[in-house]
Amino acid sequence: MRHDTVAGLDIGTTKTCAVVAAEGPSGLEIVGVGEAPSLGMRKGVVTDLEETIKSIEAATEKAERMAGVHISDVYVAITGEHIRSTNNRGVVAVTGPDREVVPQDVRRVVDASKIINISADRQIIHALPRQFTVDGQDGVEDPVGMAGGRLEVDTHIITGGTSFITNVLKCVHRAGLEAAGLVVEPLASSAATLLDEEKQVGVVLLDIGGGTTDIAVYSGGGAIYTSTIPVGGNILTNDIALGLKTTTAQAEQIKRTYGAGTIDGESAHIFSAQTLDGRSERDVSTTQLRQIVVPRVQETFRMAKTKIIDNVPRDLILGELVLTGGGAHLRGIEALAEEAFGLPVRVGMPKTIGGLTEALAQPEYATAIGLILFGPNEGGALNGHYSRRGTTVFRKLGRWFSDLWN
Ligand SMILES: Nc1ncnc2c1ncn2[C@@H]1O[C@H](COP(=O)(O)OP(=O)(O)OP(=O)(O)O)[C@@H](O)[C@H]1O
Ligand SMILES: [Mg+2]
Repeated sequence: MRHDTVAGLDIGTTKTCAVVAAEGPSGLEIVGVGEAPSLGMRKGVVTDLEETIKSIEAATEKAERMAGVHISDVYVAITGEHIRSTNNRGVVAVTGPDREVVPQDVRRVVDASKIINISADRQIIHALPRQFTVDGQDGVEDPVGMAGGRLEVDTHIITGGTSFITNVLKCVHRAGLEAAGLVVEPLASSAATLLDEEKQVGVVLLDIGGGTTDIAVYSGGGAIYTSTIPVGGNILTNDIALGLKTTTAQAEQIKRTYGAGTIDGESAHIFSAQTLDGRSERDVSTTQLRQIVVPRVQETFRMAKTKIIDNVPRDLILGELVLTGGGAHLRGIEALAEEAFGLPVRVGMPKTIGGLTEALAQPEYATAIGLILFGPNEGGALNGHYSRRGTTVFRKLGRWFSDLWN
């Protein structure tokens, strides 16, 4: 793999996507992308190793061919109900001769904040500093160079189930790749879609995929809550197929065309849906479709909202809700989200970072693009699963501690 390239691998429930970016004259540019259907994943976790390996191989081969580079190391997206988060604090004494905070102290204090009680079957994937405190002075973004005797940090810590992570890494490894690092999907998708000002003011991100909905809440510039619920857009397709007694393929097409059916202010209209045997058609109204789709979307939002309410401080101010992932395409979803959360809603398209961005300017690519943006700066720990090979050149792209805020 060329030393100036970076690759991300998003093994989703419906599709596996590999993205390669290279350092161009005006920064990072996407030079290759490959996609293949995922047949071995359910609700974000591997259920069939062989199928998942095939999907990874197919997606990476396509991306390699397009980019004309060999991919060897990839930042890997991790999701699933096993992802949990918590906030913790670390404290260390600054011991250097001048009592000046050095990068080593920052590393030590972040490590100190990683001392949390987790069961033996779980591991820490990320420890993201939210703010530092130097000798009682809080709100410090970058303590390096400051004078002080006591350094504290508030971190957002994300953990995952080791066996779920190991299964993903097994597939990556058996597809001939090395994991350069892990990134939980809510963070990857946030890196691709959220603006710094949104993260500062307070924002909720929902990445509605096929089998999962990733949740990230940011406030004061950093993540404060991350989680994943095992429900995504595929359940809507199932509901439509059952409700309209039609095939999954037809239900998917109906969902993509008519979405939440009749939406406010529209009059109902009739479309036809194939019967299960595919031999005849039946008339269906968009009102009927709405009765199927809306309760399920509302339920998903309720689940996400309950998780957030139960886990963020009561006085937290949130200014906006950003929807991304393939599910964000659902016609009428913004109004439903606005109603459910009582927040202004926008659909988050992945940031344009140069290169092949047009083809990727869709919410379903937020995670893959986010891996490229977030991974090199703060790809989560591999815990010695499959060793990180060398270090990425992109580490030099910034002082590591300030990048942790991304
Ligand atoms: N136009 C559309 N209207 C409604 N839903 C859509 C539309 N286009 C795609 N979807 C839905 O988006 C979902 C796939 O999204 P995405 O590609 O983000 O999932 P994934 O990353 O494979 O899965 P996950 O993140 O859950 O592991 C599917 O349920 C699909 O039906
Ligand atoms: Mg996804």
